[in-house]
Amino acid sequence: MKTPRIAEILKSGQIDRDITVQGWVRTKRGNKNVAFIALNDGSCVANIQIVVDPAAFDEDMLKSITTGACLRVDGRLVKSLGAGQGVEVQASHIEVYGTAAPDTYPLQKKGHSLEFLRDIAYLRPRTNTFGAILRIRHAMAYAIHKYFNDHGFYYLHTPLITGSDCEGAGAMFRVTTLDASNPPRTETGEVDFTKDFFGKPCNLTVSGQLEGELGAMAIGQIYTFGPTFRAENSNTPRHLAEFWMIEPEVAFYDINDNMDLAEDFLKYLIAYALENCREDLEFMNKMWDNELISRLEFVLHNDFVRLEYTEGVEILKASGRKFEFPCDWGCDLQSEHERYLVEEHFKRPVILTNYPKEIKAFYMKQNEDGRTVRAMDVLFPKIGEIIGGSEREADYGKLCARVKELGMHESEVWWYLDTRRWGSAPHSGFGLGFERLLLFVTGMGNIRDVIPFPRTPNNAEF
Ligand code: 4AD
Ligand code: MG
Repeated sequence: MKTPRIAEILKSGQIDRDITVQGWVRTKRGNKNVAFIALNDGSCVANIQIVVDPAAFDEDMLKSITTGACLRVDGRLVKSLGAGQGVEVQASHIEVYGTAAPDTYPLQKKGHSLEFLRDIAYLRPRTNTFGAILRIRHAMAYAIHKYFNDHGFYYLHTPLITGSDCEGAGAMFRVTTLDASNPPRTETGEVDFTKDFFGKPCNLTVSGQLEGELGAMAIGQIYTFGPTFRAENSNTPRHLAEFWMIEPEVAFYDINDNMDLAEDFLKYLIAYALENCREDLEFMNKMWDNELISRLEFVLHNDFVRLEYTEGVEILKASGRKFEFPCDWGCDLQSEHERYLVEEHFKRPVILTNYPKEIKAFYMKQNEDGRTVRAMDVLFPKIGEIIGGSEREADYGKLCARVKELGMHESEVWWYLDTRRWGSAPHSGFGLGFERLLLFVTGMGNIRDVIPFPRTPNNAEF
């Protein structure tokens, strides 16, 4: 039955009318003379209060209404006399859609730990915290599409199954229909992938960038927004095996245009959240991180620092700080280094550029110095790297040489190299980790808590 959602009812302010509400019971309390049910339908943090006169209802039916049960309530919406809510529903009819036995339903009390909720991730959307996170996640996804649409970008669908390794880190999930316990073999004893479904080895994509570049080289400005997969065994609060990435790619952009786009895009998303998710952000601010809203506003209203990797390393070395991983020119920055630069040294987001070519992917534009590439990482407070991107190597000869140098198989990326053979152009792009963005916007500390069904090592139950 279609009924107004609780968020609409609470917002409308129209009282003294008959309404129907449907939702899940958060709490029930009361006495012989009156019962109060707090009902929530997931449309907002707030519950609507249902007032019940026990004498007017079947006793067993009322008994079956416990935390977690799902109800439909017909009644009259009136101004509430009690404190804590503006309106309430005086119930005239209640239908129990589904009960939730108190001795088995796990979400009995408020204030369960995030660890406990992770173990019952299939139920945690029914809590206030995860309701808020899921609504913010939706709003950010919508804002991403809106931003790009309004700026003349086209949404390009890139494949999830690929034969190439964009980032070259080799941490990929194989996709195969071969029998794992008895695969066909070649004469030399290796697995014969010519007999596999696609006639060659394939994997789940780690990034849509390479295909995204093909789009940019034709329709100019594209973005991808889809799941990506990495089989790196990193059990950190910032890594998932399956995460969503947004990858704009733009023809004729150099690295500076790329940085401008990244900063404008991130600020747009933060402003959108502050404007459209106010109630949920205030809830997260109150419950989990009381600097959340001020941090969002701070990032929105301050320029990002733009700094070369080489200068960044000098700052780290001069800091006198004992890092777990000591840092010298050439090292890949750890999250502790990134956060030192952002949180302690500059106290602002930082875009670090011109990294050593050895620690970056093959496709990045090579600088004249022969040892750095035109990479850019956007580093955020509490997160570290939120965006990774670069200007792309547009020169066919240089790109082919780099592919060879790294021992990559040309047979996997010949089509990508061809973009530089015909009508090559300067172009740039980046990847924003959607869940890293959500960590920042929700104030959560663990990436498993900003995706409905996290995939991490040994965790794919639901
Ligand atoms: O820096 P990365 O590896 O860059 C790329 O994949 C490029 N192809 C992007 C591009 O230029 N089009 O990943 C981009 C972002 C990171 O900055 C981070 O926010 C996120 O993706 N990310 C992860 N998020 C969650 N779990 C993981 N295992 C992640 N690995 C990267
Ligand atoms: Mg990166």
